[in-house]
Amino acid sequence: MSELNTIALKILSNGKGILAADESTATMTKRLDSVNVPSTPENRLSFRETLFSSSSMSECIGGVILYDETIKQQTSNKKNIPDLLQSVNSIPGIKVDTGAKSLAGSPNEKVTEGLDGLRDRLKEYYKLGARFTKWRGVYNITKDHPSKLAVHSNAHALARYAALVQECNMVPIVEPEVLMDGNHSAEDCLKKTSEVIKKCFEELILHKIDLTGVILKPNMILAGSESDNKINGDEVAKLTVECLKNSVPSEVPGVAFLSGGQSEIESTENLNLINKVNNTNFIMSYSYGRALQQSALKCWSKNITDIEGTQKVFNHRAKMNTLAAQGKWSKELEN
Ligand code: 13P
Repeated sequence: MSELNTIALKILSNGKGILAADESTATMTKRLDSVNVPSTPENRLSFRETLFSSSSMSECIGGVILYDETIKQQTSNKKNIPDLLQSVNSIPGIKVDTGAKSLAGSPNEKVTEGLDGLRDRLKEYYKLGARFTKWRGVYNITKDHPSKLAVHSNAHALARYAALVQECNMVPIVEPEVLMDGNHSAEDCLKKTSEVIKKCFEELILHKIDLTGVILKPNMILAGSESDNKINGDEVAKLTVECLKNSVPSEVPGVAFLSGGQSEIESTENLNLINKVNNTNFIMSYSYGRALQQSALKCWSKNITDIEGTQKVFNHRAKMNTLAAQGKWSKELEN
């Protein structure tokens, strides 16, 4: 078993998942603005430290994706954040892309940047304790999108990123996110997501990636958020498993879904249903941002010194998702 495969399995085994706490400062500012908390480095740290010190971490959260600011911060009692995570048996990860920018040649689509200087940044993050990384490509569905150009450009960038990350002995999370914005059908989402994922693996193989040391972070197969033809959870699960079965090479150890704007309960319920019908060898777990943090953030914002109260809310969501990652969740457990 390769070292990278061991890391990937450690992050995702036994129902463990990933906490995506890698919001850029701009995004985190939006989240804090929405609950009327000033976005200062201290407040961003305080919320994140509260989550990372929760009792559910060691049992539920196999890895945390950090942002550049956070991986360099210290806790209130002068512990480095990566050390805090290691002390609760969670592997520190780091977002390394520098964001999705307008794609020249198809300006209504995006291509993710961040390859220049990446090798040096990876070495620095490794020294700081990171053992896995994230890069997110983003695609929208319209009549003409994603274009072949967007599918190709993002897959190429993801593969070059993954090669540099493995060269530096870290596990790359490969995240091609097909957005749920729009009125497209679930069938459209299935078709486009399959095309996008297949292209990513074509490029990963071309770039000689060790697929046993990769985690795929895809979207679930859903109808667009403005579609009149929503599908139920059983159909989401069936189409999502079908998509991954047909587009992901069998060497890949695991998949960690993004929540992508689904509600907390919806993303837990869908993950549970996916695991009930998962007839592949892939672990299917979670790498949620909003779906793990929304309620905790709301609670924290009411009184940012209420660490215990905030942790209680976070612990509940982490536990519910870890049950869902094993197909053991039920709605009654939410009460
Ligand atoms: P959401 O779960 O909020 O979609 O965030 C996951 C993520 O890391 C997106 O890149």
